[in-house]
Amino acid sequence: MNDPVFLITGASRGIGAATARLAVGSGYRVVLAARTHHSVAELAAQLGGPDRVLPVACDVTEWDQISGIVRQVQDTWGRLDVAFANAGSSVVTSFLGADGAPPDQWRDMVLANVYGPALTARATLPALVASGGHLVFTGSAAGRGVRPGNLYSATKWAVNGLAQNIRAECVGTGVRVTLVQPGLVDTGGIPPERAHDPKLEPGDVARAVLYAVTQPATVDVNEILVRPVGQGAYR
Ligand SMILES: NC(=O)c1ccc[n+]([C@@H]2O[C@H](COP(=O)([O-])OP(=O)(O)OC[C@H]3O[C@@H](n4cnc5c(N)ncnc54)[C@H](OP(=O)(O)O)[C@@H]3O)[C@@H](O)[C@H]2O)c1
Repeated sequence: MNDPVFLITGASRGIGAATARLAVGSGYRVVLAARTHHSVAELAAQLGGPDRVLPVACDVTEWDQISGIVRQVQDTWGRLDVAFANAGSSVVTSFLGADGAPPDQWRDMVLANVYGPALTARATLPALVASGGHLVFTGSAAGRGVRPGNLYSATKWAVNGLAQNIRAECVGTGVRVTLVQPGLVDTGGIPPERAHDPKLEPGDVARAVLYAVTQPATVDVNEILVRPVGQGAYR
């Protein structure tokens, strides 16, 4: 059996877990990565046996960990076809005043949202070049417009630049690079002031990811913006 292999960071819940479910259903062998093993082990047990689903502990902001996971995947299954750099986090910020999280809490978000996907790309691309594979990033609708005082939005602008720069470097390798930009998704981490806004389900974003990665090898879906009906233009 040599089914394609799909690595998902931030797979323990939300968009990552929903994508894992769809990927398994679409015939991929799946690697579920999150910071603690127990958070992905239970989902792995639901989705399939160890020959189909591999749960791994990995902090994407640690080079030794993300590069070690890619080595483990290649040792175990001998290939990597899709890498989904999805792990991320969010805190509310303000630059003018005292609203939101204190600045010492900003670092983890910037590292998870920008440094993490950059390391994930660096760690996975040699294997993706070998397979003619696909690198997918989770950006955000917040990475396309101005959100006053919002550092999270700025990190997702950075992911937009990361995807474009990596796609440019990958010309001629056969690797495809997709940026998926969701609007608000009902994953439990929504700030109280947006509790009543329209929301996507995690599965709505997962379907966008699977759409991109199941196109013919000659088709590179560069970007997908998917927002809930009724979401305000600047939300
Ligand atoms: N929810 C939304 O409205 C929305 C909208 C647009 C974009 N997004 C983006 O979508 C992605 C997934 O978000 P979500 O809403 O599904 O979030 P979530 O439910 O909070 O899940 C976040 C995932 O990332 C993992 N994670 C966080 N920091 C990590 C790190 N340093 N290393 C490895 N894993 C880490 C978490 O696992 P552990 O805590 O177990 O490590 C978890 O699996 C993020 O990039 C987020 O910015 C979300």
